[in-house]
Amino acid sequence: MAGVRVAGVGLTQFGRHPERTGRDLFAEAALAAREESGVPSDDIEELNFGNYMGVLAERQGHMAPLMAEAAGLDCPATRYEDACASAGMAVREAVRTVRSGESDVVLAGGLERMTNLDTADVTEGLATAADELFEIRQGMTFPGAYALMARAYFERYGGSREDLAHIAVKNHDNAFENEYAQFHRKITVEEALDAPMVADPLGLMDACPVTDGASALVLVSDEYAAEHGLDAPVSVTGTGQGGDNLALQDRRDMASTPAAEKAADEAFADADISPGDVDAAEVHDCFTIAEVLAIESLGLYERGEGIGAARRGETTADGDVPVNLSGGLKAKGHPVGATGGSQVVEMTRLLRGDHPNSDAVPDADVGVTHNAGGTVASAVVHVLEVDR
Ligand code: COA
Repeated sequence: MAGVRVAGVGLTQFGRHPERTGRDLFAEAALAAREESGVPSDDIEELNFGNYMGVLAERQGHMAPLMAEAAGLDCPATRYEDACASAGMAVREAVRTVRSGESDVVLAGGLERMTNLDTADVTEGLATAADELFEIRQGMTFPGAYALMARAYFERYGGSREDLAHIAVKNHDNAFENEYAQFHRKITVEEALDAPMVADPLGLMDACPVTDGASALVLVSDEYAAEHGLDAPVSVTGTGQGGDNLALQDRRDMASTPAAEKAADEAFADADISPGDVDAAEVHDCFTIAEVLAIESLGLYERGEGIGAARRGETTADGDVPVNLSGGLKAKGHPVGATGGSQVVEMTRLLRGDHPNSDAVPDADVGVTHNAGGTVASAVVHVLEVDR
């Protein structure tokens, strides 16, 4: 089985881009990744492209060949859609393709335009990732769904809005120096607690924003990297995917995310590591409670223990295992179909030492990314390791 290296990464600025098109954003990220990799475009054999709501936001279906064209690629292109985990799945399939020997070079990533819709239309569009029959028709929205999960967690294990506020403060702190992040504004616990309520107990500062943005990575086999003398010190050594019932009501437990547990177990076994080996994690904190569920699913914390991790300073930049040094979805932003790719991009930069926050993890060998779809009915986890 071929090893898989990250030869180049690219991101657009995350935020509002009213003057840009989706193809323009994806082309920017893809060209940046290709240029950094030094791989000629003719050598790229496939494009794996993540997108969730292009049909709603840009009235554009069949996006993958369009994105290949925009990025100057002449290769087969396929769109992956698993709601907010779309780009994570695109990366996973690229890893599997390179490992199988089917292709030596695959470009993977994703894109989302969101801010060209107003918040109500975005909320309605995002809700289609829930169960139409049993959730959407009853008025379920994603802030509402995660509020139910937060309440279930608080009831089972305890915890408070203040614990969640510490996660928001940490992630805004981490985004401050990240040039690609949507928010460059530090907040306080008090500010988070006083912010307008979105879906009780989750307020504005517990939510990720609405974001435009794109991510891209050039993944190559070990053999290709060696033959072409590429500078590609980071490898993807583990990948895993898990699934669960789509509707929250059909889950056995709303205070945990078994799909992510399955994905983590598979990825860790694949990389032959255990949670204790993880030096840094980028996790899917679409709402602050989601970060808690994520770090517990990854096995970094026992169930019920993750809620106090940020407050205790264990997941902050100077903590034992920093979580979301990029700023996470909360403060870096969440262009849904691009997010999973951006997590792998950010972890690559962190491990290589060229991320503004790399100083927080100077000796990190192992990083993990966790990307979730909907209320974690789908999840994908990757393990990245750097040559030292
Ligand atoms: N965190 C911090 N600040 C935010 C923010 C967030 N999540 N969302 C918006 N803001 C800020 C804006 O920057 C703006 O600040 P300004 O007045 O200084 O310019 C202000 O709040 C108002 O922004 P606006 O876009 O009008 O807010 P909104 O009320 O329309 O939307 C939310 C706020 C939380 C409802 C929206 O961001 C949202 O729906 N987020 C969740 C998205 C989601 O569910 N994604 C999928 C997850 S599964």
